Amino acid sequence: MKEAVNISNSSISSDTHQPILEIRDLKKSFGNKAVLNGFNLKLYEGENLVIMGRSGAGKSVMVKCLVGLMLPDSGSINVMGQDINALNRMDLDKLRTEIGFLFQGSALYDSMTVRENLEFPLRRHKHKFGNITDTEPLVLEALERVGLVNTIDLMPNELSGGMQRRVALARALILKPKIILYDEPTSGLDPITSKEIIELMRRVQKQYKTSSLIITHDVDCARVVSERMILLVDGVNYAEGTFQALRASEDDKVKAFFK
Ligand SMILES: Nc1ncnc2c1ncn2[C@@H]1O[C@H](COP(=O)(O)OP(=O)(O)OP(=O)(O)O)[C@@H](O)[C@H]1O
Ligand SMILES: [Mg+2]
Repeated sequence: MKEAVNISNSSISSDTHQPILEIRDLKKSFGNKAVLNGFNLKLYEGENLVIMGRSGAGKSVMVKCLVGLMLPDSGSINVMGQDINALNRMDLDKLRTEIGFLFQGSALYDSMTVRENLEFPLRRHKHKFGNITDTEPLVLEALERVGLVNTIDLMPNELSGGMQRRVALARALILKPKIILYDEPTSGLDPITSKEIIELMRRVQKQYKTSSLIITHDVDCARVVSERMILLVDGVNYAEGTFQALRASEDDKVKAFFK
């Protein structure tokens, strides 16, 4: 296993903490192309960890493995002390409610209203809230968090790109997860809307003390939201550290990110 360039002065990544999420030696190939080749990651409670990597580096593959949408070839994924490969279906389903996932794009269901989009995860996981029948208060609360209560009866195609992203965030938050995965939360948005989304992400983390994994190649987004960063290069966690520490690095592959 290749050792990561550790450009770290962050106190958060101290080994005295128990990570809330840990990936060890993750490998995933398609045909003879190795996309992930021994990737490691630790996410600590309450932190904002940014993963940067070029297009095609394997960032989305990594998060898909994390939420069980894709099966890795090898490696382990531990979430809140549980090895997700060792869980039965019911326990895995339960654990998934602790992970909110904002997909790349926004991936709202086109044929459903905003309300129905938000109800969807609630129906599926109603056990988390004591088998509630009235989902309306939770839907309204989630929409309030993103400032879009008035869109409740609209269809996704009646919303702007930024609004769709915010509704998708509301849907990711509705089960009150402990961990949120953001896959390219600002891609395709204009700079002002990007800033709004970034602000929203910060607010969510502060208010709900969630731990966030943010996949991005938006350097501005990384600078503002990250407490710690991991650079995914050649299928491994090539470099780790704070934004400032990585930006000051003399390593050519690291420097390439900040050009
Ligand atoms: N289901 C699949 N079958 C075959 N190849 C795949 C599959 N999913 C991803 N890949 C390949 O794996 C590589 C990594 O893809 P991935 O989507 O993780 O990139 P990424 O880092 O998220 O890029 P981007 O920044 O553009 O979103 C790509 O070369 C892609 O073609
Ligand atoms: Mg991607």
